[in-house]
Amino acid sequence: MSSEKFKKVDHVAIAVPDLEEAVALYTSLLGKAPEHIEEVAEQKVRAAFFGVGETNLELLWPTSPDSPISNFLEQKKGRGGLHHICIEVENIDERLKELKERGVQLIDEQPKIGAHGKRIAFVHPKATNGVLLELSEPIKD
Ligand code: CO
Repeated sequence: MSSEKFKKVDHVAIAVPDLEEAVALYTSLLGKAPEHIEEVAEQKVRAAFFGVGETNLELLWPTSPDSPISNFLEQKKGRGGLHHICIEVENIDERLKELKERGVQLIDEQPKIGAHGKRIAFVHPKATNGVLLELSEPIKD
């Protein structure tokens, strides 16, 4: 197993105004159905995941007007767009501690539970040249 702290791009997330339409679009684009669709109550989203090689495309759709994805869609005039990139990390608690010590602006100083029940946290786009960055720790079995 690699000892890298940042292991791979786990997924790239695209916010969409209509999940059913977007799932149909990406199903025809990629020639396969999503492997996984899940509602993440804590973040007020539904997410559909398509495996693409080592990584995944995540389609994100808001389940409530006060979902962070609703705000994002408004900014994009309802058309959707690239929302965040997620990097799989080794030991998310340590990564967050290190980043905080280096003065990196975090949205989440403590991990929360994201899709697939993974522990995740977001780094502020102000700290990453405007890209919302998610960190996620794989589930250990
Ligand atoms: Co994500």
